[in-house]
Amino acid sequence: MSDEKRDTAVVDETRALEPAATPPGPCVMVIFGATGDLTKRKLLPALVNLRQERLLGERFAIVGVGRQTMSDELFRDRMLEDFAQFATRSLSVADTAWLRKRLSYVAGDPTDPDLYTRLERHLAEVDQRCHTEGNYLFYLAMPPSLFMPVSKHLARAGLVAQANTHWRRVVIEKPFGHDLASARDLNRRVSTCLSESQVYRIDHYLGKETVQNLMIFRFANGIFEPIWNRRYVDHVQISVAETVGVEQRGSYYEQAGALRDMVQNHLFMLLALTAMEPPSSFEADAVRSERLKVLQAITPFTPDEVRRYTVRGQYGDGVSTSGERLPAYRSEDHVVRDSDVETYVAWRLMVENWRWAGVPFYVRTGKRLPKRVSEIAIQFKSPPFVMFRKTNVESLQPNILVVRIQPDEGISLRFDAKVPGQTLRLGTVKMNFHYEDYFGESPSTGYETLLYDSMMGDATLFHRADIVEEGWEKVMPVLDAWQHEPVTDFPNYAAGSWGPEAADELLRRDGRSWRRL
Ligand code: BG6
Repeated sequence: MSDEKRDTAVVDETRALEPAATPPGPCVMVIFGATGDLTKRKLLPALVNLRQERLLGERFAIVGVGRQTMSDELFRDRMLEDFAQFATRSLSVADTAWLRKRLSYVAGDPTDPDLYTRLERHLAEVDQRCHTEGNYLFYLAMPPSLFMPVSKHLARAGLVAQANTHWRRVVIEKPFGHDLASARDLNRRVSTCLSESQVYRIDHYLGKETVQNLMIFRFANGIFEPIWNRRYVDHVQISVAETVGVEQRGSYYEQAGALRDMVQNHLFMLLALTAMEPPSSFEADAVRSERLKVLQAITPFTPDEVRRYTVRGQYGDGVSTSGERLPAYRSEDHVVRDSDVETYVAWRLMVENWRWAGVPFYVRTGKRLPKRVSEIAIQFKSPPFVMFRKTNVESLQPNILVVRIQPDEGISLRFDAKVPGQTLRLGTVKMNFHYEDYFGESPSTGYETLLYDSMMGDATLFHRADIVEEGWEKVMPVLDAWQHEPVTDFPNYAAGSWGPEAADELLRRDGRSWRRL
């Protein structure tokens, strides 16, 4: 980065103010599904990154639980091999030794009570060896059908019983239910084994730096909040575009679809952080209650409104931007040949409250789009009167503030400026802040903060039961209407294109258009 781009004085000041993070204290992280994909791709690399940030010390251990029979030694070798493949930073000799010393394994069937008797004994030994003081973080990196059996067995074995001397927490991965009824049922059943404060429902979008920064951007700066409302904002666009297809997850995706997989959780959280009121404090429940209120304010849809304001799509075969041939969703593995599962969703929704009444929020997400981009764009209203008579009004571009979530995390503001010269001409320019320019690159998996917070007992970035249920409540009318009206035009967009034509039409009807990402 050039010297002109970087205001070192400001950066150094920021760093000086930064308090050093406190290590979470002694604990054992018990990973159910330890030989699975999530552990090797995200969890282990994230733990090593925390170690390298000096946030995991000597009094820490990782216990893997899986069905395969394996010695501790073999488990350690496997983990280190996987680590070499998925690490975001390299491991020093000292950290390799640190990791090996802390890894151990317990094999068994998660539905068999005997596993938990052995696990209890094993954890007691680990506590002795690593001085972890009986603090356990159970991470369920496994299919949702196992959440309940595992929670029940953990409770029966006394492994989630807390005391003044130790804490016990359980991290659950999405999906939290398949619809409102199953989410409610899951929450109710989980509550019979664990108290709500012990349950950490993870949404990895909340772990993304830029997503967390949204609250700082809005509430730590005085200049944005006064214009962050219906008087100044014309509309908001939230886009999460992916280039990947369903990869090896056809059988899961056939049961899910884009609305359940992405909108009900990730996109709703981006919407909630964009639209929420300032919380009374930075405490977990204060922040989570504000997120909940946004979801509560989304107007529920009638079937007719679903028809008018939502668009679903599925990719057919196509070509990527680099010229590679891409198969249709219906030809992916474990997908039925006449599947009507959506791989794309666009939705115009309204947050009916004092701040946002009348401001449309357009959200879209899709697989096999031309670019991987996630962003939130706030488009401001045009000035009430254009006084440059010789300038065509049409040529004025509205101000847009874009929060880029990935890749190239940052924030930009678009505004009009005078093109130098003797005639009055306007051009559109951008102020652009790139995270990397100011704070350098910090290779991460996106799970570091979430793991750290769950060890610290900070649930701010996790879903509370009522947030999950509210999310489902708002997508149910859409799911129901779609189920009653089977699609006839799938596939309706080519892999490698920007989605179905109907999604463009959705905005065109309002005199607007999607941003070109
Ligand atoms: C997951 C979805 O939750 O998020 C996937 O199940 C999706 O289908 C993924 O690909 C996207 O995450 P990211 O971090 O790559 O944007």
